[in-house]
Amino acid sequence: MGEVSPLLFLLTIMIQDTFEDDSGDSPVLCKTVAEVRERINERIKRGVTIGFVPTMGALHDGHLSLVEIAKKRADVVVVSIFVNPTQFAPDEDYESYPRQLEKDLEACRKAGVDIVFAPDKDQLYDSTEYFSIEIDSLNDHMCGGSRPGFFEGVVLVVNKLFNIVEPDVAVFGQKDIQQVEIIRRMVQEFHHHVEIVSGPIMRANDGLALSSRNQYLDKKERVAAPGLYRSLQYIESQIASGVHTPKLLIQHQWSELEAKGFKIDYINVFDKHTLKPVETLHQGSSYIIAGAAYLGNTRLIDNILIEF
Ligand code: PAF
Repeated sequence: MGEVSPLLFLLTIMIQDTFEDDSGDSPVLCKTVAEVRERINERIKRGVTIGFVPTMGALHDGHLSLVEIAKKRADVVVVSIFVNPTQFAPDEDYESYPRQLEKDLEACRKAGVDIVFAPDKDQLYDSTEYFSIEIDSLNDHMCGGSRPGFFEGVVLVVNKLFNIVEPDVAVFGQKDIQQVEIIRRMVQEFHHHVEIVSGPIMRANDGLALSSRNQYLDKKERVAAPGLYRSLQYIESQIASGVHTPKLLIQHQWSELEAKGFKIDYINVFDKHTLKPVETLHQGSSYIIAGAAYLGNTRLIDNILIEF
């Protein structure tokens, strides 16, 4: 092959750059409520719709898949990054929860996010707060049963965020299915004007549901971690082949997981609307096969939705 002319070389590089550049413009970073309101209002005046993805940061492909959904459903996408203190119990990982704003901003830039709202704590919480939100029976089982105060903290901050961002659509991950269902109900009861969308669970190749907390797992725990999903899949397959009273099946999976080093918080089949455990499955209903378990100090959760 003959020598490539300098002009042709330059042209090739320019064409490559055009196709390889995955960067959008940098998102606008807002640190205060006033700032984010102003930026959003500027856009609303232009008649655009707002899609919102609330997060606690340490963004991974699961979060970015929610951004993709928001982009398809709204003109402008706002991502909030805020490690919310009120949803952590005193013995939980609030202090050590991964915080990596620069990395997250870069991920948001690549994903084409328009606005990142990353407030400090005092922007969202006064030093004394006189109001709280209580949740009734939706909170009795699953994560609500074992993490008292967790969902009260979640709905408190999501209320604040909805009032600040006033999104047309908000996207939450199905991995936190109880959170999605409680927020749906909250939106209905508090008359928030927002559509709640649930994005499917993103998984690693071996089936482990993506989570910011997966980075706590050591090598051995990481290898064992997909076991939780496999157990849920096994329960799903047995239900599909005719088991309508899953109690014994669940007990068996519980023991199997314990033998693999998991400390189980819960595994059960729950009614999708009441979020209560069910003894017998009935045709025409929606259920959640869900589990939470510790490997070492890391809490893993996962679920499978079934229309029965
Ligand atoms: O799912 C989360 O990351 C959090 O619970 C949320 C919804 C951002 C509230 O802090």
